[in-house]
Amino acid sequence: MPKLLHRMVWPETGQPVDALIKFEKAGPGKYQDILVLEDWAYGVHERFGLPVPARVLLHDDYGNQILATTRFDRIEGRPVPCESLYGALKILNRKIFETPFTDAFKTEPNFLQVSQALMSPRTGMSADPGADGASMFSRIVLSFLICNGDLHLKNTSILGGRGQARLSPVYDPAPMRLYGSGDDNLTAISFGGLRFFRSKIPEGFGAKLAELGTHFGLRPSRAKSVISDALELTARATEEIAMAGAAENIVLAFGQLQGPVREELKAAVLRNTHAGA
Ligand SMILES: Nc1ncnc2c1ncn2[C@@H]1O[C@H](COP(=O)(O)OP(=O)(O)OP(=O)(O)O)[C@@H](O)[C@H]1O
Ligand SMILES: [Mg+2]
Repeated sequence: MPKLLHRMVWPETGQPVDALIKFEKAGPGKYQDILVLEDWAYGVHERFGLPVPARVLLHDDYGNQILATTRFDRIEGRPVPCESLYGALKILNRKIFETPFTDAFKTEPNFLQVSQALMSPRTGMSADPGADGASMFSRIVLSFLICNGDLHLKNTSILGGRGQARLSPVYDPAPMRLYGSGDDNLTAISFGGLRFFRSKIPEGFGAKLAELGTHFGLRPSRAKSVISDALELTARATEEIAMAGAAENIVLAFGQLQGPVREELKAAVLRNTHAGA
């Protein structure tokens, strides 16, 4: 996908803004409707209370799409320190972090390693580990419910200088499971010792996801309510993407990918509730 970092006149304010600008050609190409879906996915994160950059979705008379987001690594044109989770974690353990994603059937790198590094005051990755842990867990849960199988270690960053670093705003939240080259990986990163292969939901997925929340500093009941809230927020996803202009085949494919994940997570939240009652 062509994209570029450029200063542009922001349509709403008429002011020059440093932006990341992505382009999508009209028509049913490999990434059909991806920018409409990415724009929608940003909205989902925003409604969930997560930080997102300001954005604008534009199109020309031929239906070519442009999605611009304001750069969060610039303040008044000056750079703010920014490092991907991959870069940050690789400093801690070069051997484990050979790739920013977990290969099929492997268990490293994983989200437990992310939580340990993020929550530890020794790494200095977050000036507010409680808030950033909760934020990271919400992003992971949402990724499953919006068919984003691409939340790898370069799609989240640490932003800000020493003593002030925080998790970056959300970026690149597109439902990439729709566009895999012959695959539709449930996740780019493993957790709970689970081994993932393409769209297969491994045994214990829901329970392990709830458990992952505790490693990001949440009480078990809070981790469960994050999952319940995310389920509720994404319940009408297919209607929403249709309304946003996604083609019928895209809406159908989205529903087929999202459905089994929803069922699994609903069952896990219920199971846990009964177990805890
Ligand atoms: N709003 C933003 N402000 C600053 N940097 C950003 C912003 N959005 C994305 N980036 C940076 O630009 C990179 C590419 O953007 P993005 O991840 O959205 O595109 P992509 O199409 O997935 O590209 P890639 O395959 O390189 O990940 C990101 O990995 C991130 O470092
Ligand atoms: Mg990316």
